[in-house]
Amino acid sequence: MENRYGVLDKLHVTVLVEDYAGYDSDLLAQHGVCFLLETEYAKGKKTILFDAGQSAGPVLNNMEKLSKNPDDVDLVFLSHCHNDHTGGLAGFLAASSRSRIPVIAHPEIYRSNFAVKPDFRTFGMSPENSPGAVMKAGGELLPIADSLPLAPGILTTGEIRERAAFEKKPTLTLLTLQEGKMVRDLMTDDISLIFILNQGLVIVTGCSHAGIISILQTAVSITGINHVAAVIGGFHLIDAGGDRVRKTVEEMKTFSVDKIYTGHCTGLKAEAGLLQEYGSSFKKLRTGLTIEF
Ligand SMILES: [Fe+2]
Ligand SMILES: [Fe+2]
Repeated sequence: MENRYGVLDKLHVTVLVEDYAGYDSDLLAQHGVCFLLETEYAKGKKTILFDAGQSAGPVLNNMEKLSKNPDDVDLVFLSHCHNDHTGGLAGFLAASSRSRIPVIAHPEIYRSNFAVKPDFRTFGMSPENSPGAVMKAGGELLPIADSLPLAPGILTTGEIRERAAFEKKPTLTLLTLQEGKMVRDLMTDDISLIFILNQGLVIVTGCSHAGIISILQTAVSITGINHVAAVIGGFHLIDAGGDRVRKTVEEMKTFSVDKIYTGHCTGLKAEAGLLQEYGSSFKKLRTGLTIEF
């Protein structure tokens, strides 16, 4: 897999927190996302916490049950501002005995993010995860909008600047403030991780508010690799209309995708559409699931 970013030897994904835990699990489920990504490359290894769930309690409980140590996490990656992905951040950092743990996020992650329908609600970073609180808990915030290489075969997508026409607006109607005025929030802080393996790309997303097709397109154009071994994460189509769901499934087929692992905010309609198209290559995410590359 020749490319300028190098190749990863191993990627081990553990779903630490997801909305569903299964019938016979002693793990805690929670509306939110937290993945543990353990990687190995020629001269080293890196363990990444991808999002931090809604609160640290279930993340830390499940880590203990799965024999994972918070001290092994080298860096935290935040896919976007939403509280179900960032709420556990300071709690997780405080549980690690390490200091200056890099926390990679988009520079706009601390903007206001709220809805007014059906009633006023805020969704963004909570006060307990303010920049000061994150620093105090042992994190070092690295706000970066560009694609960032993290190790051989690991990079961030950076901001998804080119969006497919049908994904220009997120499915969620959220607002933000610009000079005191309410404007539609286009979720420009939505970023994902790209892993380059010999079998192809593995793309890990939080909610894909920037649009899963636009994210895939960005990953392919950054790396120049067009075979996708797996897409893992939420696609936030739970509140999308039938047209957008159908278009997503159709467009997904234009990429060479081996496996889809999704759940969280994807929604039953899109999951059913993808299941029909991908059959046994479609997998439902759940807390405790492990995926080996
Ligand atoms: Fe979410
Ligand atoms: Fe979200």
